[in-house]
Amino acid sequence: FYGAVINPLSLTCYSAFPRCLLAVDGTGNIEWIVNDVEPHALQDVLAAKGHVDAEVLALKDGEYIMPGFIDTHTHAPQVPNMGTGGQYQLLDWLHNITFPMEAKFSDLDFAQKAYKSVVRRLINTGTTTCCYYGTLHLESTKVLADIVHAFGQRAFVGKCNMNRDSPPYYIEPSPESSITATHDFINYVRALSPSTSKQEPLVQPILTPRFAISCTDELLASLGALASSDPTLRIQTHISENPSEVAYTRELFPAAPHYAGVYDMFGLLKQNTVLAHAVHLTEDEVNLIKERNAGISHCPTSNFNLSSGIAPIGHYLDKGIKVGLGTDVSGGFSTSMLNAVQNASVASKVCAFHGRDSEPSSKSVFASKPLQISALLYLATLGGAAVCDLERQIGSFSPGKSFDALLVSVREETGNSGIWGLTEPPTTTLTPDKELEGWLERFLFCGDDRNIERVYVQGRFIGGRTFHS
Ligand code: GUN
Ligand code: FE
Repeated sequence: FYGAVINPLSLTCYSAFPRCLLAVDGTGNIEWIVNDVEPHALQDVLAAKGHVDAEVLALKDGEYIMPGFIDTHTHAPQVPNMGTGGQYQLLDWLHNITFPMEAKFSDLDFAQKAYKSVVRRLINTGTTTCCYYGTLHLESTKVLADIVHAFGQRAFVGKCNMNRDSPPYYIEPSPESSITATHDFINYVRALSPSTSKQEPLVQPILTPRFAISCTDELLASLGALASSDPTLRIQTHISENPSEVAYTRELFPAAPHYAGVYDMFGLLKQNTVLAHAVHLTEDEVNLIKERNAGISHCPTSNFNLSSGIAPIGHYLDKGIKVGLGTDVSGGFSTSMLNAVQNASVASKVCAFHGRDSEPSSKSVFASKPLQISALLYLATLGGAAVCDLERQIGSFSPGKSFDALLVSVREETGNSGIWGLTEPPTTTLTPDKELEGWLERFLFCGDDRNIERVYVQGRFIGGRTFHS
């Protein structure tokens, strides 16, 4: 690839090179990157690298490449409900809106149809890696894994464990049956895609105790044992999303010191645990999560939509806790990580305004301050990679990493006049050397799937506006 490349480096820094040459090898890994190559020097650089015959995709003015988005939390079977139910808070929303829809996924034909459209839509909105919740159904969650695998997306797919406090039509009958189905699911998904010594498989199973309320002690203990016997197995669950949920959890687990302590007590709070929400944590819980090196999936759209609150993300970042972003459909009303980025920005500004984050001290870099573009880009990419415990492989561009990328366009032919505006080329008040940064900022705030021309996972072109299967 030859052209503009945006690359997140840290929470406070990203690179933007207008004339970058980036080489991808036959396995889909990045081989090398030269940051600045003049057009007349292109053939010489290729020759020096021993790639005279390389096929070069030259980007046009107004196009750039960036790492794909990593959605650290979403529910595939809730997409059919998206945009409804916002009048409820969490526990009523689950019973009135969510469980009735998830129950429909016992029907494999329904699951097949719905999941095909869900996965296609997520890929085309730029999500190259996704942490999916399926339903409690073994067979239909296998269908989800099959479709993700067939479409070439990178993903962690989980069959929900839930044997308590769920309606009679949507509950697992016993901890034993839940664990047996979980073993079956893990074996099935692991047989789908091979791992190599260099790379983890594209599609992987993830343990998914829905949340503490929906699992008995016995089930959580068995899942904890499974997690400790298999350290590569990731875990995803919900934590401290809503005050009534927190209070009920405390009631159900009187032996635990707090909500995070429930997961910790059962060996489910680890460096590869993805905790969605974390809106109402106590400082003891924050410290425990940091100590265990678990990651937080910040789902601001959902937190606004279900009136859950605002997670003090700046404070977590100051603490050095791993944070990524999640769409949490259909608590959230968009499958797009761009929407998560936009709401993360707004949430951080509301925090800054109302002091929702902890006291900003002289040491605080992020608490009670708006998230800058570098931080938003980081959270949607590298931060998510860290939360998935896959930072060495995805989230940014460097030699040896997988080429999971978006080819973004802010050109007129995308049809997105919101991003294009009335002048050409797309103009901001930024100076010419900051033009590329302006394109990124515009894409993050005004972009949509029309601006995502191509989506690559492990070097393979799998989606985007110009993709035809
Ligand atoms: N807590 C338990 N289940 C769910 C769910 O499906 N969505 C959200 N947002 N929170 C939950
Ligand atoms: Fe969720």
